[in-house]
Amino acid sequence: MLQRGIRRIQTDTAEVRYILTNARGHRMELSNFGARITALWVNDAQGVSRNIVLGQPDMAAYIKHDIYLGATIGRVAGRIGGGYFFMDGNRIETMKNEGNNTLHGGLPAFESAVWESEADEEQLSVCFSLRTQAGENGFPANLVTQAIYTWTDDDRWMMEYRGRADDTTVFNPTNHVYFNLSGRADQPVADHRLYLAADQHFAVDKELIADGELNAVVNSRYDFTDPQGSKLNRCLQAGGLDTPFCLRTSAADTNEALQSEKLYEAARLECEQTGLRLTAHTDQSAVIVYTFNHPNPTLETKVGTLIKHGGITLETQQFPNTVAGEPNPTIVLRAGEEKISRTVFSISLI
Ligand code: BGC
Repeated sequence: MLQRGIRRIQTDTAEVRYILTNARGHRMELSNFGARITALWVNDAQGVSRNIVLGQPDMAAYIKHDIYLGATIGRVAGRIGGGYFFMDGNRIETMKNEGNNTLHGGLPAFESAVWESEADEEQLSVCFSLRTQAGENGFPANLVTQAIYTWTDDDRWMMEYRGRADDTTVFNPTNHVYFNLSGRADQPVADHRLYLAADQHFAVDKELIADGELNAVVNSRYDFTDPQGSKLNRCLQAGGLDTPFCLRTSAADTNEALQSEKLYEAARLECEQTGLRLTAHTDQSAVIVYTFNHPNPTLETKVGTLIKHGGITLETQQFPNTVAGEPNPTIVLRAGEEKISRTVFSISLI
C-alpha cells in the first residue's frame, strides 16, 4: 500500500506536479499549470485501480492542445455574450476568443498560467495562488485568486476558490474537470447514469449565450431528475449536453454533514461497469454539464485517445452569462471583499 502523503515533483519546466495519496492509497495528481487536476486514481468495485479524470502527461502537451482538461477557468467561466458587460455604469469590453464572445475569461487566462503553490502534507491539500493584473483580457482590478484542493481519506476532492480584488470586478471561476468513470477516454460516457438536482435549465441561443430565460426540464432531454439517475445514451444520441442547469440548492439532500456546511447535492454520476459513483455537492447556483460533443477530436490523454462523448464535465459556478449586459450580481466582487465558492466531489461505490 502506498504511504499517505504528498509527493512534489519539480519537472525540468516551470511545472510542478503533486501526487496526493490518501489513507486508502487512492491518488490525486495536481499541476500548478492552470491549477489543474491531472489524474484521480481510485479502486473500482473489483478492486481495480482506475483513473477517472482526463488529463495529459505534461505541461508541453497542455500547451500544444488545450481543451481545458482539469483546468481552473476564469476570471469568468462560461461565455460573456458580445464580449462586454456594464458595471457601475461603465461598459467593460472583454477579449473575444470565440467569435463575438468571451469564453472562459479570454485567452490566455487562468488555465494557461503557472500558479504559485504550497502543499500541506497533514491536510493532504495544495493551495494554488495567482495574481492577475487589471486590464488583463479586459477585466478591471488586480485580482488574487486561490484554488485550494484537498484530497480526504474518504475519497472526497474538496475544492475551494477564493478571490480578492483592489477594485470592482467580476469573478466566477470553476474547474473544467472531465470525468469518465470507466477510466477510459476512448469509451463514451453513454452507459453512465446521471442525476441532476435541477428542475430548470437556462435557454441558450446558437452561440450558446444564455439571456437568463429558464426552461423546465420536464419532458425534455434535459430531465435528469430521476433520483436513480438516467442513462446518458439517449441524450448523447440527440446531440449531448452543453447546458447550464439551475440548481435546486434545497435541503432535499440526505448528507447532513455537507448540508450543515450549506453544500447541497448537485449531481450524481454512476458507472455500472466499474461500480463507481461520483457525487457533487456545491454552494453554487448552477452547473454547466458538457458531454464533450466535439465530432472528431485528436487528443491523447493519459487514459487513451479521447473520443466524442469520452468525458463529462460538471462545472459548478454561478449563472455565467450577462443579462442585458448586466452581470449576475452574485459574481460582482468589490474591493475589500472576498468571494469564496466550494464544491466537493465524493467518490464511492454504487
Ligand atoms: C462549454 C463548451 C465549450 C467547452 C470548451 C464548456 O464549458 O460549455 O461550450 O466548448 O467548455 O472546452
